[in-house]
Amino acid sequence: MQKEKQVIVDGLTFVPYLTRDEIATQVDRVAEEIARDYEGKAPIFLCVLTGAFVFASDLIRAIGINDAKISFIRYKSYEGTSSTGSVKQIIGLTDDIEGKDVIIIEDIVDTGLTACRMIEDLKKQNPASVKFATLLYKPVSSQTGFVPDYFAFSIPPKFIIGYGLDLDGKARNIPDIYVIKED
Ligand code: IMP
Ligand code: MG
Repeated sequence: MQKEKQVIVDGLTFVPYLTRDEIATQVDRVAEEIARDYEGKAPIFLCVLTGAFVFASDLIRAIGINDAKISFIRYKSYEGTSSTGSVKQIIGLTDDIEGKDVIIIEDIVDTGLTACRMIEDLKKQNPASVKFATLLYKPVSSQTGFVPDYFAFSIPPKFIIGYGLDLDGKARNIPDIYVIKED
């Protein structure tokens, strides 16, 4: 399928950045790493809504650990194309994670504030371990020094949409990833 040359969302123009094939190759690589590290274990995946639902869906099916479970949490920190600097928990965890191996699945790590807040919240429930898998990681934007355990792509600090990532809730359903166009 031919991907669009550019897309316009809320008056902003975005250009192609990562194709669905490039994404699939790297998601499979991360899945292999996780499958190797968790062989013989029964981890619980925590998908961070809303953005990570597309990545989590592809990742967990590629990992192939039959004893794994999946659950969902929701945090919000972004408005428009930038971080508000404050992280809000919108949906909390309903499952018991005490003594469990937890793998957080996130769409993107930007300032690292959301990641640090989630890990702090989860550790209060005494899991056996907490690891962090993200599709995208913007190391230059980090305000926290947080480094994810697994990431599919390390990218420059530019605003992107597609494959679950949104602009104010829009564009999550675009199958490829697009980056904001700079004039
Ligand atoms: P952080 O707390 O600054 O690391 O931001 C993490 C959250 O901000 C992610 O879960 C996304 O929801 C959102 N976010 C960060 N960068 C982008 C982007 O380029 N596009 C869309 N959402 C983003
Ligand atoms: Mg998010």
